[in-house]
Amino acid sequence: MAATLDITPVAGALGAEISGVDLSEDLTNTQFDEIHQAFLDHHVIFFRDQQGLTPDAQKRFARRFGSLNVHPYVKGMDGHPELLEIIKEPEDKLNFGGGWHSDMSFLEEPALGSILYGVEIPAYGGDTLFANQIAAYEALSDGMKEMLGSLNAIHSASREYSAKGQSAQARQSMQSETANDAPEFEHPVVRTHPESGRKGLYVNPAFTLRFAGMTKRESRPLLNFLFEHSRDERFTCRFRWSQGAVAFWDNRCCWHYALNDYPGQRRHMRRATVNGDRPY
Ligand code: SIN
Repeated sequence: MAATLDITPVAGALGAEISGVDLSEDLTNTQFDEIHQAFLDHHVIFFRDQQGLTPDAQKRFARRFGSLNVHPYVKGMDGHPELLEIIKEPEDKLNFGGGWHSDMSFLEEPALGSILYGVEIPAYGGDTLFANQIAAYEALSDGMKEMLGSLNAIHSASREYSAKGQSAQARQSMQSETANDAPEFEHPVVRTHPESGRKGLYVNPAFTLRFAGMTKRESRPLLNFLFEHSRDERFTCRFRWSQGAVAFWDNRCCWHYALNDYPGQRRHMRRATVNGDRPY
């Protein structure tokens, strides 16, 4: 059957813009299947001009992909605990998500994906970067792949949501709790994508503290190499927001980074996070 949606890649490594669908309407099974396939193929997909995507409509769309996460440390939107309002006021210095990460890797069952809606976009700046962790893995040497395949890593929110952490400090405009004693969970360094079966790196600078069975000091050199390698520009794409745009990324195989380059302006986003399963 002919495709009903237009899907245009935005960069070589990942990312595609999709047109021809209104996400606020009930999607047909064909539309859902095409969006789902594009999500698996491109790892992050973008939609423009979705002004009808109210909080209820955003949750309805997100629930087609799974149950919704209620963030353990950041207060949700009034009346919609499953939605995060990601706001940076003109006077705020730090922004939420301002560093490379994969959402909720600090949970035992980290997020499948995140659906971010642009409520108010600065006149310039405030783009989001994405990095393909399958491509980053595939670019490694066979020796490195083999070694990483035997390693697990410890993830926790304890650093990022400590009193000095970026996410906790971005709370001038967002109510977040500190979590110095957040639990630790062990995930494989090389993760098999549960839907595509492809292997990708699954460590990130925000939430990965060390390798399992090693000290932080022992872990640091190899983690630093992986953090630098994984964000190499050949694995990335960049999204310029417009009001009413939507980005839906696959946290199982992507990193993202909210750029903080719009001082004195307001940026307001709304995020639904779809629960995922235990990495293997
Ligand atoms: C996030 O990390 O979820 C925020 C991304 C953004 O605001 O661009």
